Amino acid sequence: MSYSTARCGAKKSKARPSVEWNGLVPVLCGVLDSLRRGCSRHRRGRPNQSACLGSMGRRRNNSCPRLDEENPGRSDPLLAWFTPRSSAVLRSLQRSIHRLLVSPDEAAVPGPIDRISSLAAFFYVALFLVTRTRLRSATTSNPTWIKGAIPITKRARPSKETLYEAFRKAQGSLSTFLGMGSPVPLAPEADACVMHGSSTSLNLPSDSVDVIITSPPYCTRIDYVASVRPELAILGYGDREAKLLRHLSLGNPTVPRESRLPGKVDSKTARTFLADVLSHPSKASETYYLRYFDTYFRMLGNSLNELRRVAKQGAAAFVVAQDSYYKEVRLDLPRVLTEMARERGWKLNRQFDFPVDRTMAAINPLARKHRDSFRAIESVLLMTKA
Ligand SMILES: C[S@@+](CC[C@H](N)C(=O)[O-])C[C@H]1O[C@@H](n2cnc3c(N)ncnc32)[C@H](O)[C@@H]1O
Repeated sequence: MSYSTARCGAKKSKARPSVEWNGLVPVLCGVLDSLRRGCSRHRRGRPNQSACLGSMGRRRNNSCPRLDEENPGRSDPLLAWFTPRSSAVLRSLQRSIHRLLVSPDEAAVPGPIDRISSLAAFFYVALFLVTRTRLRSATTSNPTWIKGAIPITKRARPSKETLYEAFRKAQGSLSTFLGMGSPVPLAPEADACVMHGSSTSLNLPSDSVDVIITSPPYCTRIDYVASVRPELAILGYGDREAKLLRHLSLGNPTVPRESRLPGKVDSKTARTFLADVLSHPSKASETYYLRYFDTYFRMLGNSLNELRRVAKQGAAAFVVAQDSYYKEVRLDLPRVLTEMARERGWKLNRQFDFPVDRTMAAINPLARKHRDSFRAIESVLLMTKA
């Protein structure tokens, strides 16, 4: 999914895209060694690398919690949860990672993150961990929901030292994790490239893909954009970009009021489900909920159009999906997907079903009014393009 729609024309970084796991561990070891050497130098009175990262950011950004120096009206999205001082420390770390490992262009926040090296990604992930674990007041009983902004008195105020130490620890645990190695042997010559894009508009040539592995959102109204607010904020994206992303996200609970999305609902199971929602007596069934499900099915159909376009003839697709409920009405999403895919020339070869004992719906106390079991079936559909 695209986190970078606002910057499609942004200058490309020279860093090579890479997911070279075999090469990454030695590189990391080298980096960690130099970090360790930096630490011991620091103890002898010279700055260590993390301190350098921070101080380089501070050079231009003393106590400044602003994000975009060319657009001073825009405030740093981190200020939604952190005091200005703590936000400035996190931002200076982010800027330093960016300048050292992605692009020397200092103004690049939000920066070009669509083509970054594994090394830069490593440090970004460490910073994501640091940020996420300081957001206790912004979390709720719903693990997928992070509050947009919290009252000033509740904002986290970790000190610079605490954040630097947490950043170092996060690097350590990440490198331990990477050092454990992959349980699956990786082909040494494997060449991987990560690209961003919405499933409804893939930046890939037609008839070019051999295998598709995908798991679309399950039509359970999870706001995936809200769930990654801290990471988006580190990358410099705030409410404005989140709103754009929500429009691109399949199954997002915010659906436009005005118009119906183009596309068709070419699944009998989906149409029957929509009719059940429309006639349901509960509040907002015929308004918001009908619009939500209708938009979901249309976007799903548009995504399947794209998969058909990019797949070669005979290509295989593994699609993971789960059933769910609206009130007491069951939505058999694997079946919807099978019917929609069949309309687009795919043949279902096999379906593997796995019972799920407890789903996210169980955390909503209101859901108990409509049913008492919160089990679901997760399915893997194996299809081929005829
Ligand atoms: C059910 S989750 C899949 C999770 C995945 N199976 C996993 O275990 O992490 C759906 C994912 O699809 C992403 N998504 C939502 N809309 C999308 C779109 N239009 N294009 C691409 N990805 C999208 C969400 O952000 C979310 O990460």
